[in-house]
Amino acid sequence: MLTWDELISRCGSCRRCALHHHRTHVVVGMGNRNADVMFIGEGPGEQEDLQGLPFVGPAGLLLDKMMAAINLSREQVYIANVVKCRPPYNRDPLAEEQNACLDYLRNQVLLVKPKIIVCLGRIAAKAVIAPDFKITRDRGKWVEKKGYHIMATFHPAALLRDETKKRPAWEDFKSLQRKCQELGVLGTGQ
Ligand code: URA
Repeated sequence: MLTWDELISRCGSCRRCALHHHRTHVVVGMGNRNADVMFIGEGPGEQEDLQGLPFVGPAGLLLDKMMAAINLSREQVYIANVVKCRPPYNRDPLAEEQNACLDYLRNQVLLVKPKIIVCLGRIAAKAVIAPDFKITRDRGKWVEKKGYHIMATFHPAALLRDETKKRPAWEDFKSLQRKCQELGVLGTGQ
């Protein structure tokens, strides 16, 4: 297992897949390295690639609002992605790109040791929970894997495209809040 410094340096010079050709920045992750709650998205978009930080574009603003509504802040959680470099035109990361990058995410999870993991969208849910995960069918369901409490919800970008997904996503965030309370972890506003 790599230390944080080693991980950041390896990601910075990574050429394991073709995504490195067009990146401006590698987006490793951000937030509290000892967080109880970790969010995992799909991969950097345009703003993330430019700034080197996850979820700083329109989807990130919505994520911040949803977190704030359950008294969670960016400083309390850790946010990472399945792939650390932006796929061209924001297309889904290919299986080989995800596979090349997943060791970095596994390493991050081992370093953070969160109690709760929330997958944002289908790509993260398939990579982290199960390859046959169906976001519409399986979102909001808690599973326990290797001692982590894991749930997936719609990707915030999907909520921006389709308003009807906002209510179920909000239910999922309330479920996250209840899970935080149940496990006695930070950010529940209690
Ligand atoms: N979408 C993601 O999945 N991750 C980001 O960091 C930004 C947008």
